[in-house]
Amino acid sequence: MGKAVNVDWSKLGFGYMKTDFRYVSMWKDGQWDEGKLVEDNRLTLSEASTALHYGQQCFEGLKAYRRKDGQIQLFRPDQNAKRMNSSCRRILMPEIPEEKFVDACIQVVKANEDYVPPYGTGATLYLRPFMIGVGDNLGVKPAPEYLFCVFCVPVGPYFKGGLAPVNFTVAEYDRAAPYGTGAAKVGGNYAGSLLPHELAVKKGFADCIYLDPATHRKIEEVGAANFFGITRDDKFVTPKSPSILPSITKYSLMHIAKEYLGMEVEERDVFIDRLDEFKEAGACGTAAVITPIGGIEYKGNLHIFYSETEVGPVTRKLYDTLCGIQFGDVEAPEGWTVKVK
Ligand SMILES: Cc1ncc(COP(=O)(O)O)c(C=O)c1O
Repeated sequence: MGKAVNVDWSKLGFGYMKTDFRYVSMWKDGQWDEGKLVEDNRLTLSEASTALHYGQQCFEGLKAYRRKDGQIQLFRPDQNAKRMNSSCRRILMPEIPEEKFVDACIQVVKANEDYVPPYGTGATLYLRPFMIGVGDNLGVKPAPEYLFCVFCVPVGPYFKGGLAPVNFTVAEYDRAAPYGTGAAKVGGNYAGSLLPHELAVKKGFADCIYLDPATHRKIEEVGAANFFGITRDDKFVTPKSPSILPSITKYSLMHIAKEYLGMEVEERDVFIDRLDEFKEAGACGTAAVITPIGGIEYKGNLHIFYSETEVGPVTRKLYDTLCGIQFGDVEAPEGWTVKVK
């Protein structure tokens, strides 16, 4: 490692901190430029950029992990590239070649290596790739130019306490419309979630659960994470819907549950009035990792799963295997980890 950075790894939460370099590439006249690392963390844009007025932007989130041997690896960056391109197609932005996306992430991690937290602290380097429509434009139409950037920030747990259960309440608002943009990682979905999130926190919950927008009977998302439940007969169950963001962590856990833990896996409807079928439940995502769900409040009742204070045994096994793979302690399925250094 080069210079020492002044970060207390054990105290990190999920907050912004300026690191040394970020990657920037411009799309103009039908093509991406070569892209470069820059030190300035500010962008200069036309006031008429579509990203500012019409929400033409999308983003991703993935992490770099420091292994026990000091090497650094990314977890499934190709999946983030694919998901970003599917977001781009939904809102008419140019796709970014998968190799360019992964190369940009690797360049950013290498250039900010000193900010990759040491192995054993539980902290990681979070990467935030994003694309925005820029350039002069007034009517509601796609932008003439696009900016693709990747910056990084060292982070600790998303929800306070790391692997500790937290409670959620069911939101009265929807995060996505049927046939809308729920499956795309676009900023508009998140703007709409700010108020329900704040209302949940004011009521003493970590975040809110969103139900399906058409019938309000089925669980879709847990804040900015996907839901999973462990049935009384040990099946891993997670909701299926076209308006859920397809979580890379969730699909990884489905594979882990089946191939590493020998569990049956089901992607299907999860009804909010049938939570009793689960003995454990959790939220999963890059930022949330696995956050055990202590209980869910719905219509004034708090349904407790395993415990409000203890982590269930299946949730713990899933967590240990997932983190083991991400930090290089457990052998990963072919192609899941990409060495940075
Ligand atoms: C709405 C939403 N759902 C789920 C997830 C989890 O997805 P992933 O596991 O790919 O991070 C995220 C985070 O990216 C999210 O923002």
